[in-house]
Amino acid sequence: MKAYDEPLSNDSTNPTFHEIAACVMEKRRALLKGAVGSALLALFAPWTNAATARGTAAALPGAPQRVSNTSTLLAPFGPSIPTHSEDRVTVMPGFKIRAILPWGDPLTHPNAHFKPDGSNTAAEQAQQIGDNHDGMHLFPFPGKSDEGLLALNHEYTNLEYLYPADFLPQATLSEEKANKAIAAHGVSIIHLRRGPNGWDKVPESRYHRRITGATPCALTGPAAGHPLLQTQDDPSGRLVLGTLNNCAHGVTPWGTYLTCEENFNGYFGNGNPNDPMHKRYGIANGFGYRWHEAIPRFDVARTPNEPNRFGWVVEIDPFDPESTPKKRTALGRFKHENAAVTLAKDGRVVVYMGDDERFEYLYKFVSRKPFDPTNPEANRDLLDDGDLFVAEFTSNDTGNGRLLGRWHLLSRANPKIASDPRFPTDAEVLIFTRAAADVAGATKMDRPEWIAIHPTSGEVFVTLTNNSKRQADAVDAANPRAPNFWGQIVRWQEAGNDAAATEFAWDFFVIAGNPEVYPETDPRAGSINVTRENMFNSPDGLAFDRMGRLWIQTDGNYSNRGEFAGQGNNQMLVADPNTGEIRRFLVGPSGCEITGITFSPDGRTMFINIQHPGEAEGHPRAPGFPAEMLDTVLNQQPTLFSDWPHSQFPEITGGRPRSATLVIEREDGAPIFGAA
Ligand code: FEO
Ligand code: CA
Ligand code: CA
Repeated sequence: MKAYDEPLSNDSTNPTFHEIAACVMEKRRALLKGAVGSALLALFAPWTNAATARGTAAALPGAPQRVSNTSTLLAPFGPSIPTHSEDRVTVMPGFKIRAILPWGDPLTHPNAHFKPDGSNTAAEQAQQIGDNHDGMHLFPFPGKSDEGLLALNHEYTNLEYLYPADFLPQATLSEEKANKAIAAHGVSIIHLRRGPNGWDKVPESRYHRRITGATPCALTGPAAGHPLLQTQDDPSGRLVLGTLNNCAHGVTPWGTYLTCEENFNGYFGNGNPNDPMHKRYGIANGFGYRWHEAIPRFDVARTPNEPNRFGWVVEIDPFDPESTPKKRTALGRFKHENAAVTLAKDGRVVVYMGDDERFEYLYKFVSRKPFDPTNPEANRDLLDDGDLFVAEFTSNDTGNGRLLGRWHLLSRANPKIASDPRFPTDAEVLIFTRAAADVAGATKMDRPEWIAIHPTSGEVFVTLTNNSKRQADAVDAANPRAPNFWGQIVRWQEAGNDAAATEFAWDFFVIAGNPEVYPETDPRAGSINVTRENMFNSPDGLAFDRMGRLWIQTDGNYSNRGEFAGQGNNQMLVADPNTGEIRRFLVGPSGCEITGITFSPDGRTMFINIQHPGEAEGHPRAPGFPAEMLDTVLNQQPTLFSDWPHSQFPEITGGRPRSATLVIEREDGAPIFGAA
């Protein structure tokens, strides 16, 4: 997603750690001076060794003293590949790539073909694959390695590429044009098969489905039906039209897909500047979609509760094309990035979730009832009942080289919330989760993106993508740099290795930085597992394969200049969580982000997404380009910034850049990711 420069919405006085413990100030000063030897620096440079100036403190217990270049997990992979700023995907030698499922290809009607001049109608777009592919998961048919249903999120749409050249920012937005954008959002359920030419969608299938920003979705769980969720069109407060800004995802043990509504505020106009919850959720005048001009439910002045019906985790059964998606209110309302699902020791379902905005929080949900693998019906509504928690990352040493974290309960059972008149019931806690978390004492993070859970150790990793607005007086242990241009990955182990625990021990896996620009002694060079060969900025997508390798995808600055010199286009890296070694595996085309990751059951294929190739904002080919001119120019010359995937895969129609899915396999056809 574009890094819209929204005004900061979290002005709570929720303390940062330096306010809690004076010693942290000392540590920060030491850190900012590049001093060595403090306990915090040990965390800041987790993969450290005495031979480098990035830190002389001992490595963390359980971690090696130096970054190994003999990782057995990474043995099937070569060294890091070079980065670049070209309009093509490059991948490590020994692997082959192919693009499929581009935005605008026909899905639910075989004749809804993509028109490269942007003239597809709203009705056609609703039958086509949506735009800006993001999180996804391949649900195999039972017992099959070469056939399944791909649930694929469509996060948003690039207005400069969605419409024909007659669309100018100044023009009146018609209902038809708004509906086309709405139809480009949501989720695609795609019946995929590996045929003689490799993986692709089958031409026609009863499973092909588009869920868009207009598809009826149920509100379920404790807040469903609450007056704050009722509108004139839906007095029940239980039926919403559509799901929006579907960022990343989750998968349940009972075989359903979770799609996460992230920057939903961007679709609403006429927010009330005097409404504290509009301010807390950034409900103002949107991101320029202007749907509120044509469709009353996006005009907050006319439909004040409609924004409360977005910002949820939505559960979808991909195998039932007639099923109604369910917005699970028990998981709270915020800008949901992804939903990483695991089980507690007693079988309760645990869902880790990040709120991706500067200074927002990390959450987890713990179901009241356990998962029952013998009774599928009993699991269908497990996500409607449970406890929601928010994370605090303290600077207290746990004694094992990691620092203490706590989960704070978000309900009226927490006295801090019960005493706040804004939360007369738990429904208000779920609808205004951010405000409840402010009260509970959560830690303001550097934009939480994806969360991934190690398949055997249960360790949890989160990408904190960047935070250009963090000030020097607001750094804390987990967010130690101001400003933070490059991001970091934090990891934690729950107490007793039980996902339902209320305490955890945390440290860093990597602190990204730029060792090309900054000397080794400078925290801006990053932790020691960042080198000139693998450096990157803005980690975002994150997933483990079955072998326990960590895959890191970036959504950052691709200018290749200044703080980001030498880092090139957005990329994907593969890492060994045990040794700390990170290698650059793939580099994307111009202006894209890399996101989404799923595997075939036989471990032979990895699928990732190339999102928004040709995004113009901040593009290196547009230095000094007047922003107000971009849409106009791009509509006249849509391939100015990218013609990917056509530029690399000519069999795919070009004429304007198109988000697409990338199929990655070994050239020799051998399994690479470990069979299920
Ligand atoms: Fe949709 Fe935070 O990425
Ligand atoms: Ca993301
Ligand atoms: Ca991002």
